[in-house]
Amino acid sequence: MIPGPTPVPETVLKAMGRHPIGHRSGPFQALVRHTSEQLRWLHQTSQDVLVITGSGTAAMEAGIINTLSRGDKVLCGDNGKFGERWVKVSKAFGLDVEVVKAEWGQPLDPEAFRKALEADVEKKIRAVILTHSETSTGVMNDLETISKYVNNHGTALTIADCVTSLGACNVPMDSWGLDVVASGSQKGYMMPPGLSFVAMSERAWQAYERSDLPKFYLDLGPYRKTAIKDSNPFTPAVNLYFALESALEMMQAEGLEAIFARHSRHRAAAQAGMKAIGLALYAAEGHGSPAITAVAPEGIDAEQLRKAVQAKFDILLAGGQDHLKGKVFRIGHLGFVCDRDVLTAVSAIEATLQSLGLHQGEIGAGMAAAARELN
Ligand SMILES: Cc1ncc(COP(=O)(O)O)c(C=O)c1O
Repeated sequence: MIPGPTPVPETVLKAMGRHPIGHRSGPFQALVRHTSEQLRWLHQTSQDVLVITGSGTAAMEAGIINTLSRGDKVLCGDNGKFGERWVKVSKAFGLDVEVVKAEWGQPLDPEAFRKALEADVEKKIRAVILTHSETSTGVMNDLETISKYVNNHGTALTIADCVTSLGACNVPMDSWGLDVVASGSQKGYMMPPGLSFVAMSERAWQAYERSDLPKFYLDLGPYRKTAIKDSNPFTPAVNLYFALESALEMMQAEGLEAIFARHSRHRAAAQAGMKAIGLALYAAEGHGSPAITAVAPEGIDAEQLRKAVQAKFDILLAGGQDHLKGKVFRIGHLGFVCDRDVLTAVSAIEATLQSLGLHQGEIGAGMAAAARELN
């Protein structure tokens, strides 16, 4: 129950266990053709979704270096560990970064972006860069509204980390006007780590033509050119493509709406369970992520609880990151997660609190509250 790597279905693992095939062969081309269609479906886009061998950060970096130039002004949303990462990547490539901050646990304020964009009459801002689902705090940022403001600006691009939102909730790339969408296989894709994905809008491809940042392995031009021929510029992770096809087939069989509904039900169950036990949620009310619920148990060492749940029930929860270590634990409910998993996690937390002598109120209240949300 961590937000990645997430559980991998057996059919996906088995698909991956096949002998690798030549990446310039007809069968591999057919596989690329099929997975490209599936990826467009998942992203709700008519653009190619390019596949890179790497983790999610490779897709984030690719989004920056393929659309921007040295010294370009960008607005970076920062309300957690992954917002901070955007700032670091942007600075590493010499961009002129203006940080739009919100406290950890709070969502980014779309109005702050609107004001900065409207004040930019000289059209200096080249991109607005943000995280959709901030995994470190379990907070959802309002990407749809912020992207609308960016589109009103006219020239800036929206570059979004959708690593823990894609496959958990609606991220319709084309209808929201997103320019760069980055994601990674070990999350909503229900796959092992190793593939990252980046999709770019037509506007982003126009920016690519002007972009002067150094790139080679992550230069998306060759990826796009070869994608047209159902291929890849380098030797791709062939076996992860087998897994990708299998995982996306499972997702298509379930359907996007059903996948989103399942994640939102699991968020409701995790939140209700924690509240009924008397544990405070870390994310601001109404802004919790469908992928992860962060819990800040007052007066309880979150790390001690997390370790005890693992020792007692073999259920791995995620810890707090940076200054949240010991203060927060996080329940991942992303990807291949079913009602039983969420109910078991809530019950295990409750039972562990009881065995540590830390449970207050009636035992079973958390499980009952979670169960009600799963009806
Ligand atoms: C919101 C978010 N962005 C980006 C990443 C990418 O990290 P990685 O490069 O480890 O796949 C993660 C993974 O935890 C994430 O949760």
